[in-house]
Amino acid sequence: MIYSRIAGTGSFLPGAAVSNADLVARGIDTSHEWIVERTGIHARHIADPAQASSDLALPAAEAAMQAAGITPDSIDLIIVATSTPDFVFPSTACLLQAKLGVKGCPAFDVQAVCSGFVYALATADKFIKSGQHKCALVVGAEVFSRILDWNDRSTCVLFGDGAGAVVLQASEQPGVMASALHADGSHAGILCVPGHVRGGLVTGDPMLRMDGQAVFKFAVRVLDEVARETAAAAGLELSEVDWLIPHQANVRILNATAKKLGIPADRVVVTVGRHGNTSAASIPLALDESVRVGRINRGDKVMLEGVGGGFTWGAVLLEF
Ligand code: UT7
Repeated sequence: MIYSRIAGTGSFLPGAAVSNADLVARGIDTSHEWIVERTGIHARHIADPAQASSDLALPAAEAAMQAAGITPDSIDLIIVATSTPDFVFPSTACLLQAKLGVKGCPAFDVQAVCSGFVYALATADKFIKSGQHKCALVVGAEVFSRILDWNDRSTCVLFGDGAGAVVLQASEQPGVMASALHADGSHAGILCVPGHVRGGLVTGDPMLRMDGQAVFKFAVRVLDEVARETAAAAGLELSEVDWLIPHQANVRILNATAKKLGIPADRVVVTVGRHGNTSAASIPLALDESVRVGRINRGDKVMLEGVGGGFTWGAVLLEF
């Protein structure tokens, strides 16, 4: 049987950390206490105006390839999960491919907002299991700071910029054990950027809008359901999962999800306090940090799960 297995991880955060106090100093009508109490967020990173998603993706991808011990010419598939692409087109994946100096392999973006990395990883797994591809670069990269309304305190304090990447290789060793992806477009309105370009002008609202409480309730429900579904598909009990890496949106969502699943808090990876919500980048960023500090090791069973605009949600359960 062909498995797909993570051969290396990498990540990149732009610039210095921006604290809650820094946001207050910039004139946002908020407080460190409110942000920490409601979200657990202490800081986030914000890209320089000249940096686009592909610029954050490149160092993350290079770090993942170095960890995997491969060079870009080994890559035969590139998938980038992003909702903040450099351009309308070409895809950020094609721009990243050019920056890596390789040609020919398929490269495309996945747009599933905060579930994007899980969607991309599950997609790459299926490409590899088909036998047609051997070495995929799977990236989550975002500059959400570009789509934030800095006058809307209920959203602008929550998000940050960053990128994370994995090299996924064909292997006889497990590997991705199971995945599940879902969407329900009838909930599009509770988390969206409803503007678009028409005739060279932005029409509609080009900023992120969110019904925070509706998103919160939806997220806790589906993160519980999809983790159970994916563990069952892999033939594992939840108690056999060594690490849970949920999308990093709000520490209260992470705690509520872990509690519902019966997974102890010290088995849940939490980086939202230092990164904020980096959308499609949050899961690979959290994975890479955990691998590099030696928390996640070879053989560990890791559940990655995301939820976000669309609405979309999904999970990948893998043996690292
Ligand atoms: O990636 C997936 C997408 N995002 C999420 O998963 C986020 C899900 N939702 C949440 O995390 C939470 O709903 C929020 C953190 C967004 C909001 O927390 P909440 O406990 O649901 O607060 P709330 O919206 O009910 O607002 C409570 C109060 C309001 O004031 P009043 O009406 O009670 O006087 C808000 O105006 O907090 C006020 N408020 C703020 N105060 C200070 C809202 N934002 C802020 C702020 N600073 N930044």
